[in-house]
Amino acid sequence: MKIIKNSLQIQKISMELIRKNKSIGFVPTMGALHSGHVSLIKKSVSQNDITVVSVYVNPIQFGPNEDYKRYPRPVNDDIEICKKNGVDYLFLPSNETLYDKDFSTYVTVDKLSGIMCGVTRPVHFRGVATVVSKLFNIVMPDRAYFGLKDYQQYVIIKRMVKDLNFRTKVIGCPIIREKSGLAMSSRNTYLSPEAK
Ligand code: PAF
Repeated sequence: MKIIKNSLQIQKISMELIRKNKSIGFVPTMGALHSGHVSLIKKSVSQNDITVVSVYVNPIQFGPNEDYKRYPRPVNDDIEICKKNGVDYLFLPSNETLYDKDFSTYVTVDKLSGIMCGVTRPVHFRGVATVVSKLFNIVMPDRAYFGLKDYQQYVIIKRMVKDLNFRTKVIGCPIIREKSGLAMSSRNTYLSPEAK
């Protein structure tokens, strides 16, 4: 597995893969990988010649009072999980790599972003749609895998792909649950056993 930190470098690799008619599967994540992510990675590995995973805690999808700073970042564990599950390229961009000092272009999926979770998280889906469109332009995947746990996110990304003519097919994958029935999430580490 190769670890790539530079967006131009991964873009060049993708262009070369496309030229060679290799299919690219992509699993965008914010890291703290768990069995839910592993199920997406496995699906991608089974359906594509090459699998790319990104691990990036995207600052622009967090509101000012949300958990951006304390979001878990066990990068070494994430690297091991990716290696073990057949990932070919792990993209680990920095904030400076993705967001220029003067960054000012955002993707907003109207109608779908202001309802449900969007009511209490007004910038969240704009941040998600923006970073996913950037990642799609960088990785240029044939297929991208998203958990149906974040159903509103999945629907918004599907809409964005259709509206903006991305080449990528968005694939929704089943929720993976803990034994107790709780849906797996990187944020479950915040919960006490009682809260779970
Ligand atoms: O679902 C997530 O982990 C994130 O919202 C995503 C899609 C990786 C964008 O940052």
